[in-house]
Amino acid sequence: MSRPSRPLEPEPQDLDAQTRAVAEFVLEHVRTLDRQPSFDLDGVEALRASFRESVPETGQPLEGLLGRLEAAIAKSYNTAGPGYLAYIPGGGVYASALADFVATATNRYVGVTGAAPALAQIEETAVGWLAGLMGLPAGSRGILTSGGSLSTFSALVTAREERLDEDFQDAAIYLSEQTHHCVSKAARLAGFPRASLRTLPTDARFRLVPEALEQAIHEDRSRGRRPFLVVANVGTTNTGAVDPLPEVVGIAREHGLWVHADAAYGGFFRLAPGGEALLRGIEECDSITLDPHKGLFLPYGLGALLVRDGGALVRAHRGTASYVQDVAEEGSLGSADLSPELSRDFRGLRLWLPLMLHGLSAFREQLGEKLALARWAYEMLRDDPRFEMLDEPQLSVVAFRLHAPEAEAERLGPELLRRVNARRRVFLSSTRIGGRYALRICVLSFRTHADRVRDAVEALREEARALLG
Ligand SMILES: Cc1ncc(COP(=O)(O)O)c(C=O)c1O
Repeated sequence: MSRPSRPLEPEPQDLDAQTRAVAEFVLEHVRTLDRQPSFDLDGVEALRASFRESVPETGQPLEGLLGRLEAAIAKSYNTAGPGYLAYIPGGGVYASALADFVATATNRYVGVTGAAPALAQIEETAVGWLAGLMGLPAGSRGILTSGGSLSTFSALVTAREERLDEDFQDAAIYLSEQTHHCVSKAARLAGFPRASLRTLPTDARFRLVPEALEQAIHEDRSRGRRPFLVVANVGTTNTGAVDPLPEVVGIAREHGLWVHADAAYGGFFRLAPGGEALLRGIEECDSITLDPHKGLFLPYGLGALLVRDGGALVRAHRGTASYVQDVAEEGSLGSADLSPELSRDFRGLRLWLPLMLHGLSAFREQLGEKLALARWAYEMLRDDPRFEMLDEPQLSVVAFRLHAPEAEAERLGPELLRRVNARRRVFLSSTRIGGRYALRICVLSFRTHADRVRDAVEALREEARALLG
């Protein structure tokens, strides 16, 4: 009999060479992050076009493929680098990449506990750590998702299943005008009509106003609507504002509302020195969205949802079928019983390994540094009369605009951003706050330290001087 063909099973020496080539490729990238530009999109359209190709019938050498990837990676925002201060950074702790490699290479099935009990336990334990860090009591449960948006979707479905019947078109959901758009998206996906969303005004520091919440609940009740959920911001994307959680929770309890905390950006600051006071009340919420790919600095693709009453998560998501009877252990809940997913990656490892390897203290220290750096950037910009600061940093976002007549600030703001980013040392992003153009510095990458923040501030001051005189 002839030897069977095994085209998808490389010879051991090839496997070895490929693994080493990929490791060297990645290590070289990480070693040089400090020297790489903060972004580079020059000529990217031609490069992009080169990837519109048909699937090859025969395989190609890895070396050439890695070369193409290297070029594609170079032509992008450098989201892993120290100069990335745009949107919400994180950086991507390397230990998670090692965890992903182990997880995908060993390819164990973790959707049901019975298929890999100890690995499922690793994930359950890591999620339990998150619940403990947020101050949730025993009995809470959680899931790991691909990110905050999916966590929010599952949170809304869980709240809906707990507090409403199947006819929920008259329900009311409260949020502030600063709430992330993933909440309205999740509400739409969960079947709520647009009229369910009650967007409330914020105070001068962009926080939800408790009196406005209370009033809206009364108004809705008198109109025959059913108030059932309030979303509290624990760090808004625009300015890092933290809603007054104790007051919001108090009102919600009085009126029987579920409180969901969007702590995707801000939640992990609870670990920083003084963080518990900063986020007081988060431990009282019914559910919490967290993004380890933001505040724990892990690579993109890791969100979490924590639910105070773990049973609620199970009731909203559990499914069953006869073909899983062999692994559906009596009394043992797997991640598939708590989330919309069944088959998926072993993402618990990308949380567990960095925490085990570095210990919590390393994360606490980094989070504390980010708060201090944002404060420092704020003070330096505040002392320059060319800038109007929109708020003192509540967490690690600094929002500001040019101090100039309205029309000029609107016109010159984007030019300021373009010029600062064109230096390629840092990369900032803009937003609109109260209808006005604003720039932001968000310090959240574990690779960002004082030198880059100083670069950002100096670039802003120099370019503002050039624009305004
Ligand atoms: C406050 C806040 N909530 C939710 C999200 C959505 O998270 P994700 O992008 O992980 O889906 C973000 C994303 O930046 C955010 O800043």
